[in-house]
Amino acid sequence: MAEYETHDFDVIIIGAGGAGLRAAIEARSMGLRTALVCKSLLGKAHTVMAEGGVAAALRNVYDEDSWQVHFRDTMRGGKMLNNWRMAQLHAQESPDRVRELEDWGALFDRTEDGLILQRDFGGHRYARLAHIGDLTGLELIRTLQQKAVADGIEVFMELKVLRLLHDADGTVSGLVGYWRPSGEFVVFTAKAVVMATGGVGKSWTYTSNSWESTGDGHAMSLWAGADLIDMECVQFHPTGMVWPLSVRGILVTEGVRGDGGVLRNSDGNRFMFDYIPPMFAAETADSEEEGDKWYDDHSAGRRPPELLPRDEVARSINSEVKAGRGSPHGGVFLDIASRRSAEDIRRRLPSMYHQFKELAGVDITAEAMEVGPTCHYIMGGVRVDADSTATTAAGLFAAGEVAGGMHGANRLGGNSLSDLLVFGRRAGVGAAEFASARTGTVSVDQGQVDAAISAAVEPFERENGENPYEIQHDLQSTMQSLVGIIRTGSELDEAIGKLDELEERAGRISLSGGRKYNPGWNLATDLPSMLTVSRCTTLGAINRKESRGGHTRDDFPKPVEEMGKVNFVQRTPNRENADGVGGTPSIGTITATPEPILVMPDDLKALFEEAK
Ligand code: FUM
Repeated sequence: MAEYETHDFDVIIIGAGGAGLRAAIEARSMGLRTALVCKSLLGKAHTVMAEGGVAAALRNVYDEDSWQVHFRDTMRGGKMLNNWRMAQLHAQESPDRVRELEDWGALFDRTEDGLILQRDFGGHRYARLAHIGDLTGLELIRTLQQKAVADGIEVFMELKVLRLLHDADGTVSGLVGYWRPSGEFVVFTAKAVVMATGGVGKSWTYTSNSWESTGDGHAMSLWAGADLIDMECVQFHPTGMVWPLSVRGILVTEGVRGDGGVLRNSDGNRFMFDYIPPMFAAETADSEEEGDKWYDDHSAGRRPPELLPRDEVARSINSEVKAGRGSPHGGVFLDIASRRSAEDIRRRLPSMYHQFKELAGVDITAEAMEVGPTCHYIMGGVRVDADSTATTAAGLFAAGEVAGGMHGANRLGGNSLSDLLVFGRRAGVGAAEFASARTGTVSVDQGQVDAAISAAVEPFERENGENPYEIQHDLQSTMQSLVGIIRTGSELDEAIGKLDELEERAGRISLSGGRKYNPGWNLATDLPSMLTVSRCTTLGAINRKESRGGHTRDDFPKPVEEMGKVNFVQRTPNRENADGVGGTPSIGTITATPEPILVMPDDLKALFEEAK
């Protein structure tokens, strides 16, 4: 039996991005022994990539705003697939969560009256995004991190979690993992576990996500018996860098368009005017003149089409490039230089200014940027109860990007930071209450610990096997080319065939060297998660025979009313089976079943009638 160290807490939070930090702060404030574990370093999370702002109806710039309008925008942006209760709580509670951040030291940009300044973003009726230039996620993380450390939360960094563990009754009771620097194994026991691991973007070639986003939390929750929903709904942010190739996919904040930036094709046309969908026609300007007026006063004119929800903009860019009207490196042009003074650009978008200057040699105060869609966010995730964030696996809670439901088929920009604050706090409460009510000593199944450790070290015992980097590369190419922004049934079937092969190859990986600082091994232990979430996305995409939000089927180009009434719920029946790839439950057994979405109550339905 392998040796390992052990730790025991009341609540363990996996993931130290915004949701994890916010959950930890709340659980700790309720007096619970709380630990935060993360694969990377504290402060290094995809949260920082929500650059342009945090959405909340603070009414500092437009008094007409309200939680009801924010709720309605969020549901319409999500093409009504959202869990309405999550969207309601989110819209109602986000203003308090933002003001609380300010109390904890976050330095927002200000209105002339000294209130938190709010900017425009796609799909939001009013200027609603509280921001710190284009560094909002970074300031949010810094603030939460400082508070968490000051509150005495124990943080365990560079810990790769392999599996969640159950007790004899099947309640989630801890985790097994290893320290990346030493390669030594570790087991944590806890009365409740919060999953807050973020997203899955590293399974695609071009992504705004960094190396941590391998879908570990989605996969581990599924293996532990939790349901996943809407995994086909993946967001391609319309504007990532396209050149130079070495930085392709890095985010170009929507704040550029929020501050007046416009998209042009190679003919110099503002092509977004050609792509206004009927659903948003009434509120979208149909001339440049009208759209421009709107930036100064939202009661004059209608929103310019560059500020349609992200799914619409990303698809339009894709179509322009396909039609041969793209930029030299396969994107389109994003122009802020002709719309704002150089001083304004440097002040409001400092990180974009430096990013293009340093990485591409482009001065965005004088030239247009080349941009194109990049895999940014997954709307699908672990199915949760809106109020408590409890998953369908007892003892397990989930918040932030890893949780599904809140954003439906497409997320509005800025709603991720508010989501992780609102539901991070709720996850902290939910887990703390569960832990407080749980009696007796927490134990874990020794068989699960042994199976996870043996599977993790197995590649060192094999010779002449597969190289994990080649498998990762082939997986990313498969997902990019066959399960990307536009999908078809035949390509999705082909992707399943490729995933079968990749899973079989992942079971034959061989590694050399030791376990200390071994990036090949680290990747080999991430691959089971990457393969699992890739299969879930592909399966969901095969089943959803329509186009809705971030999921576009070329062979079913329109939304289908009946499909809008169901989530595809993914499960694996054999969570105890450790015979599959890398000791994880056999990935091939995952099922996708349509189940009715929550029905919205009449008082909320009425909000959509009023707006007509
Ligand atoms: O474009 C951005 O600044 C990203 C924001 C978000 O994903 O919410």
